[in-house]
Amino acid sequence: MISEDDIRRVREGNDIVQLIGEKVVLSRRGRDFWGCCPFHNEKTPSFKVDPVSQLYHCFGCGEGGDIFRYLINTEHLEFPDAVRFLAEKANIEITEQTDDVNKGRRTRLYEVCTKTAEFYHRQLMRGSTSQAEAARAYLAKRGFGKDVPGKWQLGFAPGNSQLVRYLSDQKFREDEMIEANVALRADNGSLRDRFYNRIMFPICDLQGRTIAFGGRIVDKGEPKYLNTAESSLFQKRAQLFALDKAKASITSTGTAIVVEGYTDTIAMHMAGLTNTVATLGTALTAQHLKLLTRFAQRVVYLFDGDEAGKRAADRASELIGSLITPEAGPRRVDLFVAVLPEGDDPADFCTKKGAEGMREVLEHAQPLLRFALDRRLEKWDLSVPEQRARALDDVVRMLIPVGGSLLATDYLNYLADRFLVDYQTVSVALQKAKSSQVGQKSQANEATPVKPEKLPGDKLSGIERELIALYINEPSQRAELAQAFTGLKWTTELHANIAEKLVKIDAGSSAQAIINSLAFQIPEAITDISASQLSAYGEDAKEIARLLLYSHQVELLNQMIRSNNAELRRTGREGRDDDLLFAQTAQLQQQLQELKKKYSESRKQ
Ligand code: UTP
Ligand code: MN
Repeated sequence: MISEDDIRRVREGNDIVQLIGEKVVLSRRGRDFWGCCPFHNEKTPSFKVDPVSQLYHCFGCGEGGDIFRYLINTEHLEFPDAVRFLAEKANIEITEQTDDVNKGRRTRLYEVCTKTAEFYHRQLMRGSTSQAEAARAYLAKRGFGKDVPGKWQLGFAPGNSQLVRYLSDQKFREDEMIEANVALRADNGSLRDRFYNRIMFPICDLQGRTIAFGGRIVDKGEPKYLNTAESSLFQKRAQLFALDKAKASITSTGTAIVVEGYTDTIAMHMAGLTNTVATLGTALTAQHLKLLTRFAQRVVYLFDGDEAGKRAADRASELIGSLITPEAGPRRVDLFVAVLPEGDDPADFCTKKGAEGMREVLEHAQPLLRFALDRRLEKWDLSVPEQRARALDDVVRMLIPVGGSLLATDYLNYLADRFLVDYQTVSVALQKAKSSQVGQKSQANEATPVKPEKLPGDKLSGIERELIALYINEPSQRAELAQAFTGLKWTTELHANIAEKLVKIDAGSSAQAIINSLAFQIPEAITDISASQLSAYGEDAKEIARLLLYSHQVELLNQMIRSNNAELRRTGREGRDDDLLFAQTAQLQQQLQELKKKYSESRKQ
């Protein structure tokens, strides 16, 4: 929990123009800054950044909001992390109020996992049953004897509710054991151990705290591995096995090696390749990659030499994106693929060929993009002219995610060589592939949650939005507007809501403090306000305020008159009093005339 006041300080301590300017070319137009929208594909700028309200908005796709929303959408951060990131960037100290119940609960879960790992480890080292004996013998047979179990805190799960009994003695509650996923409720209601007769690999977080387990069957059997289910401590798409042990070595070598198995990781570390980590039963995700970029500039994804391994490598091509282009700057990461000879996994290969053999394989790692292109090319027979054209369309598609970068240029050259055509031909094919995808994308964009009433389109709602933006941005107009707001007939509930809250916020507050307060009370207000189109009121602020209020009244009357007239033109409506409707309409018209007169007179003064 971060307080509203801290969030306001972070908001005020950062500049959205500068932050967005790191990624988007912005140029000044009047008070605002404009550029091409980072959220959809476009060639002419319809993306506005307002330095006063510190809000951004794209008039093309409707995406808009404040600096936090920008970070959340571009960096895929959670809100608190976006605040922490910006606090650090601006050197602002924030205090996090952790609620004690939650913190206490998390701490207890870590303790359950730690105690469990210790228990399993003792069972492996000193267990006297024949099963424990078999587990020790199996590990020794695979070369994981001596100091290996100690270093990795390997364990043995005896089952028979022995763990549950031990943890109960340690005063852990049943719900805590279940949440840490080391125990399960049996059908008869009793609690039993989740892992039974398995060799246990503790999984640690970045700080080295045990958060989960992988359990391997002793020798042969199915399922080979059982892993802790996702819990509040453990998310397999975001965590990597052994990263706590590998991070120093990854930082010093600049390279992270990613394998798929626990035993592979241990074997690699034993071979001196201590910069190795493993995914946890999933493919490498963009989240993993982002985590690794904190330590590595280069990631080598090492695959088994069988077809499954190669297919996994193909899937990795989904990770190809802006993170690997030279334009990504300091956050760039180079992704490589190394494939072992058929039939070996990294552990087998280390045993057979030793550290030297493994280093050679790693030296022959290829850039992921090159690997993926080659694999795709293998599917086509380039000697058949008909296939060549289709192959080019198919293969060039893979360059879309890095399109426009220096890297794409390199690979366009590479493809031109492979297809024996000139650069231009390949480049045109890429453009074509891109534009067909842009078409698809903009369809997808229509499904993004931009509600029609939020788009500047409905005239009344647009005027209301400008009034609200003016109130926020021009302190000089607040007193007068606050008065007008109470009598105003707001046509959207959202605007009525915003106005009601606005007038209660201290009128002496800065624009950003008001935005901050609104963001807490009506989160969806921020995107709506970001769509305001007027800027640089300056000396004209008073005049603009009056014009907006006047236009709102005029438009409201116009709408009523229009709808009455339409009703009158419709014939034969049962029970309609035409005379009354006619009289009402005439009265509205009169009001409109008076309003116009009054306004033009006030302007003459
Ligand atoms: P592997 O089958 O390659 O196992 O699965 P391994 O790690 O090389 O183990 P050994 O060398 O045969 O003992 C690779 C990884 O996939 C996940 C585990 O994380 C495993 O380490 N996996 C595999 C499961 O989660 N469940 C399974 O049943 C199998
Ligand atoms: Mn394996």
